Amino acid sequence: MDYAPGSPLGAAAHERFFIECDTHGRILWMNDRARARLGRLESLLEALPPSDLSALFKLLDPEPIAPWPAMASSLQAPLESGGIPVQLVRLIGFGGRVIISAEVRMRAADTLPAQDNLFRTLLGLQSKVVQNYFRLREAQRKLDIQLGRKPRSLGVVLSEALEMERTRLARELHSGTGQTLAGIKMNLELIESQLSNPPAVVTSGLRRLHALADEAVAEIRSVSQRLYPPDWKKLTLRQALESLWNTTGIPENFRSQLDIRLSDSYLPDAIRFTAYRAVQEGLSNVLRHSSATEVKLLVQEQIGQIHIALVDNGTGFDEQDVFRGASNSLTRGIGLRALREELFALNGQFNIISGPGGTRMEITLPTTENE
Ligand SMILES: Nc1ncnc2c1ncn2[C@@H]1O[C@H](COP(=O)(O)OP(=O)(O)O)[C@@H](O)[C@H]1O
Ligand SMILES: [Mg+2]
Repeated sequence: MDYAPGSPLGAAAHERFFIECDTHGRILWMNDRARARLGRLESLLEALPPSDLSALFKLLDPEPIAPWPAMASSLQAPLESGGIPVQLVRLIGFGGRVIISAEVRMRAADTLPAQDNLFRTLLGLQSKVVQNYFRLREAQRKLDIQLGRKPRSLGVVLSEALEMERTRLARELHSGTGQTLAGIKMNLELIESQLSNPPAVVTSGLRRLHALADEAVAEIRSVSQRLYPPDWKKLTLRQALESLWNTTGIPENFRSQLDIRLSDSYLPDAIRFTAYRAVQEGLSNVLRHSSATEVKLLVQEQIGQIHIALVDNGTGFDEQDVFRGASNSLTRGIGLRALREELFALNGQFNIISGPGGTRMEITLPTTENE
């Protein structure tokens, strides 16, 4: 869908923008959707000066912030006449970065405003979310004092918020898009049953539609299962990793070695979720990018720490490039960088060594929340 300011959309749309900013509100990365709507990054930056988030932060937060705390917040923006139909904005910050996700739900009759209005509105929402976050954090701090509670580590808050977000997305995909597709399939069958003696071209067209709808249903199912594998939160980390290893089809498709040495004692949710998600991201990279024939996963627990090593013998990549500054950030993926920030927020360590012989991802996590 091309961006056409001032023209009605013609069909209801639901889009999700992801925009990654630094502390100054400078945009480092956007997803394709955001780029399609907001235009090229360079022209945006020329059109508008970046908002100075760091000034805003000083204003809102009495303590100097260095390094930036992890945070997650969300805001429901009402549909204003003349404004853009942004419905929900979430903001997740860690290290020196903020990732903003905005959901734009448009009705067929909505008209898109001019490009810089769209951008201005997003920036306005962005600072509202930030203010919202600080108000909540202040309230939480006061509550913690009243309850005499040790404040929770921000990394723990972040990883729990991420987990909630994944669950919500999985549910929306499954019951929203999944149900819509099921509806499409049912209506196809209805049409088929009403046609007596359809021409061959219609029959083959319907068959193709069926196949495409089946494919889409399968894709949705696989994405939502990846986001929220059934019952995984009830499993121990060992069980969850074994199940992930098998359902991803590693033993059938690779020469593989799985070595898990965990005591099965209690692990805080944030640590368990993050360890699981780290392996999931690593395995999905092996499957999608590595062309490897061998995969090894070693997980072991040693005095207060979990060590994870995922090794493949694939083509490797330039790991520096993935983590380098903003110069070519538009082309980079977000999986490893987000993972690294998530691990750092929990006082974990992250290391990737990659080259023509393959890739080795190493992770260390403390087994308690507040270390
Ligand atoms: N195990 C791997 N083998 C080869 N290349 C990899 C591997 N893991 C990551 N990469 C490369 O690093 C890039 C960034 O990975 P990631 O941050 O997970 O983003 P994404 O998977 O969405 O592309 C990938 O696009 C790929 O080129
Ligand atoms: Mg990835």
